[in-house]
Amino acid sequence: MKRLSLLLVLMAVGLSNGFAQNKESLTLREDNIEAIIAAMTNEEKVTLLVGGPGDLVPGAAGYTRAIPRLGIPMTVLADGPAGLRIQPKREGTDQTFYCTGFPTSTLLASSWDPELVETVTTAMGNEVLEYGVDVLLAPGMNLHRNPLCGRNFEYYSEDPLLSGKMAAAYIRGVQKNGVGTSAKHFAANNQETNRLENDARVSNRALRELYLKNFEIAVKEGKPWTVMSSYNKLNGEYTQQKHGLLTTVLRDEWGFDGIVMTDWGVKDNTVKATKAGNDLMEWGNQVEIDRILAAVNSGEISQEELDRNVRNMLNYIVKTPHFRGYKFSNKPDLKAHAEVARKAADESIILLRNENNTLPLKGNEKVALYGLTSVDFVGIGTGSGEVNTEHIANMQEAMKMAGFTLDQNLAEYYQHFYAQQETVQKMERNNRWGYRNIREEAELSARAIYLQAQENDVAVYVLGRNAGEGADRVLKDDFELNTTERELLQNLSSAYHALGKKLIVVLNVGGVIETASWKHLVDAIVLPWSPGQEGAHAVVDVLTGKVNPSGKLPMTFAMRYMDIPSSKNFPYGQSASGRRGERKDVDFTNYEEDIWVGYRFFQTNNVEVSYPFGYGLSYTTFAYSKPKVKADKDGFTATITVTNQGKVAGREIVELYVAAPSGGLEKPARELKAFGKTKLLAPGESETLTMKVSAYELASFSEERSAWETAAGTYQVLFGASIDDIRGTATCKMKAQSWEVHDVLGNPKE
Ligand code: BGC
Repeated sequence: MKRLSLLLVLMAVGLSNGFAQNKESLTLREDNIEAIIAAMTNEEKVTLLVGGPGDLVPGAAGYTRAIPRLGIPMTVLADGPAGLRIQPKREGTDQTFYCTGFPTSTLLASSWDPELVETVTTAMGNEVLEYGVDVLLAPGMNLHRNPLCGRNFEYYSEDPLLSGKMAAAYIRGVQKNGVGTSAKHFAANNQETNRLENDARVSNRALRELYLKNFEIAVKEGKPWTVMSSYNKLNGEYTQQKHGLLTTVLRDEWGFDGIVMTDWGVKDNTVKATKAGNDLMEWGNQVEIDRILAAVNSGEISQEELDRNVRNMLNYIVKTPHFRGYKFSNKPDLKAHAEVARKAADESIILLRNENNTLPLKGNEKVALYGLTSVDFVGIGTGSGEVNTEHIANMQEAMKMAGFTLDQNLAEYYQHFYAQQETVQKMERNNRWGYRNIREEAELSARAIYLQAQENDVAVYVLGRNAGEGADRVLKDDFELNTTERELLQNLSSAYHALGKKLIVVLNVGGVIETASWKHLVDAIVLPWSPGQEGAHAVVDVLTGKVNPSGKLPMTFAMRYMDIPSSKNFPYGQSASGRRGERKDVDFTNYEEDIWVGYRFFQTNNVEVSYPFGYGLSYTTFAYSKPKVKADKDGFTATITVTNQGKVAGREIVELYVAAPSGGLEKPARELKAFGKTKLLAPGESETLTMKVSAYELASFSEERSAWETAAGTYQVLFGASIDDIRGTATCKMKAQSWEVHDVLGNPKE
């Protein structure tokens, strides 16, 4: 009896809180979401699931719809990942709205330093907040399956652990500001060619261990507010319509509790997407509203399914600055953030080659600076990943600012060449989506180079590549050098070396290029990738030794493109044949290489590479000592001591690889399971790094049993300066363990 009356009281309270309340006065709060859902008409609910137009922040990519009667505000979504992408100028005001162009994701990953990434994105997230945006559409985190993917610069690595840890740090930093992120593009969006329709046909093992693994880490450790489903299909179904992916794996297995939004566009079968757990359609179109509503009315979408997605949306909305009524300033501290951007590039740039201590330079040399890219520096890339910065420093100005004397005639020659090229460049800039980024190089005669070599102390050649959304790169004249570049390198090498002078190459590239055929021609190679608006200054910091480089490669540089396993199933510039819908590598892509991506393939099969995964030089050397591993109930803890043996201060990245015992599933010879980076060690100074690996992280995926399995036996734990340079080993015994998961990802067609 007592119970019954308590129930009645509770019901009455519930009624007064929600159902019976005057609908007009009901306003969304964090604690009345159920009441709001109860008060919403189905028409209103559906509008919340479809993005709409807006003009709150010019240049933002999309909006969610407001329902003023219930106090539900519009929220604003804008691109990343190298910084916030909004329009820098607005009608009717002289005020500008520039954002900071931070280093691109590939460079951030080269730092192997999650703390650094978090610092960068804490600053980035502040711009999101202060410009009135609720969600940054980043991090981009598809794996580098193939170096020609046009958006690799927006992504981190060929390895899922490195990629996942970087993304988690990125998310934490941005979200510290009380704004959201969107981990994208979920999943297997590894090529731009026919990106809206391509069917990625991937085994469950490769999905679980590689293409989903990085998202799993990012979701569990970063807790993004949102995830963006990709355009492509996965094993025959659009990812945005794949219930197994968006609900079973993402939510039920990994515990994701935010919203899933589509990538930008309208696909058929909005109803299937809604049922699959894709909460929000972006950019959003009336036809999607009509479809969802019709399906709700016919019962094809149940009230529970509709309410589930609406609940997710409301839980998202109550976290946003627009809901909180945050008074944004439109005045983030761009100066301070430029410093952050420069420091991040400093800490991430990779030194690939340094014969006879060519670098660092003394700082007072007369420098002949070559290459169109010395003027037209590639700070970021093109497409939605571009940031509208006020300025992107180029190498000419950065070298001059650092006190170098440049060969003035040569500097002007490239300035003129760039001016001539500008029409082409402008065309590209206005049509960022889907355009190949052609970069011509200026020709220089051998005679001119001969004379320049007499007059200058050293040659620095800035070799550039741009890339971006909507198009993949190609093999000829892009992955490989074009004829002008090759001739230039050869002539520079002969002329400068004949006089005992050095030739340094700066690789200002968005993705991997071929290096094996020409690296012997040059004395030093510095790899800043696309390092953001301040990146040119950071390159100069490394050239002068103001900064001792400490970045390492987040992917492998193969000897030849055709050595890369996915090259057999990637559109590298060959023309597609066949009927629409059936074209190999265009309409569908077979991930035939399975789990043998990057170093997993090269290392296991002893295939020679140009630069191995995890490789990078320093101006000092490090000794590794006391490798130790201690098993605990959840896995093991590894420690290693690193000592700076050289004459200058520096930081070292230690990579922890594991070689599993035989007997279980067939596995790569070595797999990255953890990594650490020392602080700046003074000459002679040591630091002991501690790295933890759980039994679950050691597991591989059995398709037969749909389970993660850690094989029993002795694991070799390898402490590497790169995957090819193991400096310490230890062993650890583990017992067998397994974790069953759902078999819901479909199978690649034969
Ligand atoms: C891209 C996304 C981006 C969105 C909004 C799409 O074309 O694939 O990465 O976030 O546009 O600009």
